Amino acid sequence: MTNPAIIVIGASSAIARAFVKTQVEQNSDVRVITVSRQAKAASKASALHFQCDYSEAQIQKVGRQIFELDCTVKSVTIFNGLLHDEFDKFPEKKLEDVDLGYSMALFNINTMIPMLWLQALLPTIKGKQSCVVTALSARVGSISDNRMGGWYSYRSSKAALNMMFKSAAVELARRAKNIKLILFHPGTTDTPLSKPFQANVPDEKLFTPEFVADQLSSIIAKSHPDGTVSYVDWQNKSIEW
Ligand SMILES: NC(=O)c1ccc[n+]([C@@H]2O[C@H](COP(=O)([O-])OP(=O)(O)OC[C@H]3O[C@@H](n4cnc5c(N)ncnc54)[C@H](OP(=O)(O)O)[C@@H]3O)[C@@H](O)[C@H]2O)c1
Repeated sequence: MTNPAIIVIGASSAIARAFVKTQVEQNSDVRVITVSRQAKAASKASALHFQCDYSEAQIQKVGRQIFELDCTVKSVTIFNGLLHDEFDKFPEKKLEDVDLGYSMALFNINTMIPMLWLQALLPTIKGKQSCVVTALSARVGSISDNRMGGWYSYRSSKAALNMMFKSAAVELARRAKNIKLILFHPGTTDTPLSKPFQANVPDEKLFTPEFVADQLSSIIAKSHPDGTVSYVDWQNKSIEW
């Protein structure tokens, strides 16, 4: 295999940083390529870092730069996700809370950014070598699991991500049979994203980023292209759509 590499997008995420560490420990031969809004790589293990504002143009540009590296990419893992933002927008509890600006920001970050990366990286990852592409989804994106309601935009943007990957799996089964798609639910993990919502989570159900990174790494290592997308939790248990 020439220049084996893995790509980690949204690399400043707390789970992503732990994931990079685990990946380097488990695959000493791979080069870790990271992408983030941040100018510097969040992890010392990053061999090559790209800063990106996630506009369509910049995603395409970074995608081309990665293509030119001529690496054999074993996995792409996309961590980007927003639940609450710097403008104090919080998940909706009732219909009156629905806000177009907040909702569109979540659809952009949670649904479209992962899809634009899949599009931009396709020329690099399609080929003979198996490549596992994972996007961080969430169980709350499951339509059949929605018994509590609320969180309109976050739930819907993750459900839309799930549908995007489902359609992509159908297409890739014809066009790029070497690619395996995964939608991963990490469980409630102690990161800035879940911080305001941890009060009622029992200690044993609040995972560390390190635990989740280990689980995700072992799921990726066991996955093989099979023409389908897997929607799984940290135990590799399937989630109903
Ligand atoms: N923590 C949980 O309990 C939990 C549960 C279910 C699902 N998830 C999912 O897990 C993933 C990782 O989240 P985390 O818990 O590790 O949270 P985190 O530490 O807050 O990471 C946030 C992630 O979202 C990206 N991001 C933040 N604002 C953005 C923006 N304006 N535009 C584009 N990207 C932006 C960051 O990318 P940069 O590197 O570019 O900053 C980073 O990858 C998310 O997709 C989240 O929905 C988390």
